[in-house]
Amino acid sequence: MSNDTNTKREGLVNPGQDTPRRRFLRRLGLGMGAVGGAATAVPFVASMTPSARAKAAGAPVEIDISELQPGEMTTVAWRGKPVWVLRRTPEMLATLKKIEGEISDPASEKSIQPQYASNELRSAREDILVLEGVCTHLGCAPITAFDTGEESVVDKDWIGGFFCPCHGSKFDFAGRVYKGVPAPTNLPVPPHRFVTDNLIIVGEDPEESA
Ligand code: FES
Repeated sequence: MSNDTNTKREGLVNPGQDTPRRRFLRRLGLGMGAVGGAATAVPFVASMTPSARAKAAGAPVEIDISELQPGEMTTVAWRGKPVWVLRRTPEMLATLKKIEGEISDPASEKSIQPQYASNELRSAREDILVLEGVCTHLGCAPITAFDTGEESVVDKDWIGGFFCPCHGSKFDFAGRVYKGVPAPTNLPVPPHRFVTDNLIIVGEDPEESA
């Protein structure tokens, strides 16, 4: 039996062949690397503060965003969950209106966010988005899907946002979930307050909202 016949029967492909699945996995790897890079650029706060045990128990965490550039995201741990902080660009913000008809809960009526983030941007400040990076379907970790067109990990018409690789849920740049995917609600916004323009505390509400 020839090698060609064996290859077909076992469903294998030529090791050098660039299949759609391989291209997808390669892009996925790049996307996850991008998140790691941003987290490295702005140090992981969980490792910097004095009591890791207190944080694991749910103590608030501080995030210095002075180095965070437009379009960059960093991740901190709060109550054992990843919390993302994204500095949105004007272009990212502009996408939110364009896709409103494709969003399952555009006004976030069924989703979890504090009152000060109950708006179409789901944020207390226009440019800064704070989200729990936990998919509302079965708890996987969505990835950044900021690239569009041919570079997108979603599809060539993708306008940018977040993508859960477990079962394909899609979220926009406000963490709002698209219609027709398994995740039932938007990504939660945790309590947070701005101490200064560049210092956020996750796990505390602003004093005026208490
Ligand atoms: S856990 Fe995210 S789509 Fe299922």
